[in-house]
Amino acid sequence: MAAFPSAVKIVEVGPRDGLQNEKGRISHHAKVVLIDALAAAGLKVIEAGSFVSPKWVPQMADTAQVLAEITRVDGVSYPVLVPNMKGLEAAAAAPAVHEIAVFGAASEAFSQKNINCSVDESLDRFRPVVEQALSRGWRVRGYVSCVLGCPYEGEVPPARVAGVAAALYDMGCYEISLGDTIGTGTPLKAQRMVGAVAEQVPVERLAAHFHDTWGQALANVLAVMELGVATVDSSVAGLGGCPYAAGASGNVATE
Ligand code: HMG
Ligand code: MG
Repeated sequence: MAAFPSAVKIVEVGPRDGLQNEKGRISHHAKVVLIDALAAAGLKVIEAGSFVSPKWVPQMADTAQVLAEITRVDGVSYPVLVPNMKGLEAAAAAPAVHEIAVFGAASEAFSQKNINCSVDESLDRFRPVVEQALSRGWRVRGYVSCVLGCPYEGEVPPARVAGVAAALYDMGCYEISLGDTIGTGTPLKAQRMVGAVAEQVPVERLAAHFHDTWGQALANVLAVMELGVATVDSSVAGLGGCPYAAGASGNVATE
């Protein structure tokens, strides 16, 4: 078993995960102010938005404008989500993208609802995206959603999570973020799931992305840190949720 980490890397997902689900319109100016304030607070990785279909997630349609107007701080990275080649092209046309994240799922039903394709199709779709991003010198992160339960299918076997995580890692993702999308995980389940994934992906390459629907996210983070996970996704003020996971609340709060 890996040692309990002596330090944790925080990936702030508030401007993306936090705002993608907001009902009202948020101006790109407000997003810029938020991102700059998060950088000033000392956060080193701030997910700044997504290049997804504006018909699916209108809240992220102004990501290019946001990237154009933030004040970049040395040593801070501002990754964005990209689901397909169209998103990659949009990211390439936007100012100073150096890191993207592709996002898949361990549940077939969630994959269909969220990105309109099966899990296998999503992996086939991500492969050229990752290849092109790496050839541009970008870093690529991979997300797996529904690692501790699916809003449509219920329980998700750890082996299925491990399979998708390994596929993303093998295609070149430097880090695999394990999403408890609906926050139904518990510490024991989280440890079993990470234990299964760590047999296929080095534990130091794993991140915990736990939503806090039932107030368990912090306990689950601690549980997987005990297995050596040293990267934690969190959201300022606990904002967040996925538009395709009804009832899911925000990520564990950065504070
Ligand atoms: P689709 O409808 O199957 O795509 O959606 P398509 O290729 O058939 O294209 C349909 C239309 O979308 C076309 O436009 C395309 O040009 C356009 P039209 O001809 O109808 O005018 N389009 C795009 N436009 C802009 N950027 C693009 C893009 N791609 C196509 N990249 C698609 C497939 C993946 C695009 C769609 O399902 C989608 O955008 N889904 C995104 C959903 C999303 O963002 N969900 C939230 C993020 S994931 C999450 O929150 C979970 C996470 O936090 C971890 C966790 O908590 O578990 C990461
Ligand atoms: Mg999320």
